[in-house]
Amino acid sequence: MTETEDKKLHTDPSRRFFGRRKGKSLSGRKQGLMDDLLPRISVQIPDGDQMIDPASLFTSPKRALWLEIGFGKGEHLAWQAEAHPDVGLVGCEPYLNGVAGLLTHIEEREIDNIRIYGDDARHVLWKLPDASVERVFLLHPDPWPKARHARRRFVNPSNLDDIARVMVDGGEFRVGTDHPIYREWTALQMSARTDFEWLAEGPEDWLTRPDDWPETRYEAKALEGRATYFRFRRLPR
Ligand SMILES: C[S@@+](CC[C@H](N)C(=O)[O-])C[C@H]1O[C@@H](n2cnc3c(N)ncnc32)[C@H](O)[C@@H]1O
Repeated sequence: MTETEDKKLHTDPSRRFFGRRKGKSLSGRKQGLMDDLLPRISVQIPDGDQMIDPASLFTSPKRALWLEIGFGKGEHLAWQAEAHPDVGLVGCEPYLNGVAGLLTHIEEREIDNIRIYGDDARHVLWKLPDASVERVFLLHPDPWPKARHARRRFVNPSNLDDIARVMVDGGEFRVGTDHPIYREWTALQMSARTDFEWLAEGPEDWLTRPDDWPETRYEAKALEGRATYFRFRRLPR
């Protein structure tokens, strides 16, 4: 496959990296949050050449913008939002029951610095300005372990180009995985980059969960093995 073909495949909006959008039916309360709260805190994708204006997303000025890709039920994003009220966070998740889970955290804990995009994170990545995001979290992405599905893995050259573009110099990109194939894949993909450096100082570093990296649902299940905590720094342009 040529680079152009690969890029086309990964930037085709109709191509989906995620599995199901809906699980069991939502409780009345969660459906109420989807109907009333979600529209108030949703990120809208602007038309044409227009880009998202990060400052306009939040009701008060924020020191920085952080982005979580595939937040699942949102426990990590809610934790980060509460721990960092001076930061604005955007979470992307196409799984509607996951979005409803995050809305429950937001309502119960009165969190006001999270905005949600309930679909493919790439739509947001394509519309964020250059150097606008300080941190990107990609925690336990679907591993697509079969070699013939490798191109569906979110960590791929095209998505990494987009992440590098939107990140500020010195920003941090975190990838968590408990899957040995995804661990190896991520290490390989990231070591080919000239725009990121790996922050691990030794093997125990990336096998030890940092204090400001709360456990996610998938990590708690740890079906495939020991979790790995990758931290990469966006190198200066
Ligand atoms: C294995 S789950 C992990 C969820 C959560 N991060 C955790 O650690 O518990 C992977 C999640 O990524 C989401 N996902 C997959 N492709 C995505 C995409 N292109 N944009 C946003 N989310 C995506 C899936 O819907 C799913 O909820």
